[in-house]
Parts: sequence; structure tokens; C-alpha cells
Amino acid sequence: MTQRTLVLLKPDAVRRGLVGEILGRFEAKGLTIVAMEHRTIDPATADQHYAEHLERDFYPPLREFITSGPVVAMVLEGDEAVEVVRRLNGATDGRSAVPGTIRGDLSLSNRENLVHGSDSWESAVREMAIWFPDLD
Ligand code: RTP
Ligand code: MG
Repeated sequence: MTQRTLVLLKPDAVRRGLVGEILGRFEAKGLTIVAMEHRTIDPATADQHYAEHLERDFYPPLREFITSGPVVAMVLEGDEAVEVVRRLNGATDGRSAVPGTIRGDLSLSNRENLVHGSDSWESAVREMAIWFPDLD
């Protein structure tokens, strides 16, 4: 089933010059870029995006990080795109993510883990409305 999902290349990916490397993996897999923008978000947008995590202990430093510099936000499309992107991204903590995944190959951190991918179709719909409200 063709699906869309919201992907963020987080500030560490931009700072480390890994945008091309990571985007290349999504493209090589066969996913299509439907929308893409380089953007720095404010704390209110971070709170919207991470609404499910607002009360967690790890959220204040996560908000600090995600607003610390530009991200590259995009909508990717393809067969089972939500699950496919999650599998390419790998486990949340880069230290334990399996080699071959983006985080497993390129991140050594539980916070600075380079990428975000929507965790379900419902999350994708919610997040696409936050990041790309004008997308059809
Ligand atoms: P993301 O939302 O960024 O794609 O990552 P995810 O689904 O793999 O992980 P999630 O559970 O949604 O957590 C969002 C981000 O919060 C940070 N985090 N820190 N225990 C911790 O210290 C902890 N747990 C999560 C990570 O940066 C994670 O990407
Ligand atoms: Mg998540």
C-alpha cells in the first residue's frame, strides 16, 4: 500500500554534513520525496511535534536539541513507507541500533540520533499536518 510518512533529519545530521548520506539511503531504497524543507523550529512547534513526550524527563533536553539548529523536514512516499523508514532508521539509541541502519551506522547517542520517522500512519497524518499543512 502506497503511504506517506514524515521524516526529519535532525540538527545533528545537518551539523555533521550527513544530509546527503541519509537522504541517499531513503532514495536508494526507492522512496520518493513529496515535500522537503530546511527549517529551524521554535519550541512551540517542537511541543506540537513531540506532544506524546511533553511530560517525560527526557523532553526538556530533547526540545533544546531539536530547536538547536536547522532540520531538514520531508514527506516520503512509497509502499509501506511508515514501517520502511522506521526500519531504515533503526532503534532509537544509536549505540544499540543494528549496523546497516542509519542510526546503527552513524549515531552513538540516544538523543542525537539523526533522524525521525513517524511511528504509525496516524502519527504520520498528525505530523504531516504540523510540518506541511498545505500538502494535498
Ligand atoms: P523519533 O520520534 O525521534 O523518531 O525517535 P523514536 O520514535 O525512535 O523514539 P521516541 O520514543 O519517539 O523518542 C523520541 C526521541 O526522544 C529521545 N529519547 N530519549 N530515555 C531517553 O532518554 C529517551 N527516550 C527517547 C530520543 O532522541 C528519541 O529520538
Ligand atoms: Mg518517535
